[in-house]
Amino acid sequence: MMIVKPMREPVSGLVNVAAMAELVARGESERGELALLRRDDVLELRVNGVFVMDTAHTATERELATATLRAVGAARLRVLIGGLGLGFTLREVLADPRVEEAHVVEIEPDLLTWHRDGLVPHTVAAVRDERVRWHLGDVAEVLAAQPPDHFDVVLLDVDNGPDFLVYDANSAIYRGEFLARSAEKLTSGGTLAIWSADTSPALRAALHEVFGNCEELAIPVRLGRHETTYHLFLAVR
Ligand SMILES: C[S@@+](CC[C@H](N)C(=O)[O-])C[C@H]1O[C@@H](n2cnc3c(N)ncnc32)[C@H](O)[C@@H]1O
Repeated sequence: MMIVKPMREPVSGLVNVAAMAELVARGESERGELALLRRDDVLELRVNGVFVMDTAHTATERELATATLRAVGAARLRVLIGGLGLGFTLREVLADPRVEEAHVVEIEPDLLTWHRDGLVPHTVAAVRDERVRWHLGDVAEVLAAQPPDHFDVVLLDVDNGPDFLVYDANSAIYRGEFLARSAEKLTSGGTLAIWSADTSPALRAALHEVFGNCEELAIPVRLGRHETTYHLFLAVR
């Protein structure tokens, strides 16, 4: 399918961005190439040459945390975050004093190393926060290994959404089996939230099927001269 929607797109446009940018760090894994680039003061994360996100436009990554935590009434929170990225969702989670543990699942070992080495100064304090529990691996596998009724909040931002995958294997994350597994790991009243660059009737239906409810938040975003809308899908156990 051809992708027509600009997603987490760099302001200066895609053409020659990599050429204009300074390479801060580069890694390789079985999934391909990971690169951290700098343009002026903006850091940018790319996977196999594809733009994933940058530090200039992080409102919806932060909103993934704030909107979801706002909706959860518990006095103490244990949160799981799927996908560290540049750490903005994590930083926002940790800003909530109710959070006692923030479990972060990241599949790319080099990205963890870069954060620990302080290459992403915007979120360095969050990465070093003692409430963080690190899991290196696939969020589907890590979540499956957790005890039931364990998390008050599960936040997933591992792709640009169900229709714009960073890794093909992630398609399972948006389907019934994994969503049901996530529901099992949530406490009663706990919330699963998923970031997406676009609306997704299929994801909404799958969440309804598993949880019996789904709220979709459409958040307007300005990316340089572009205006677009990103989406958060929330479902309560
Ligand atoms: C869009 S970024 C996350 C952005 C993050 N919300 C932030 O605020 O910076 C996606 C992250 O998910 C990671 N990722 C992709 N697939 C994954 C998987 N199956 N399990 C764990 N992490 C994954 C990528 O390596 C990347 O770091």
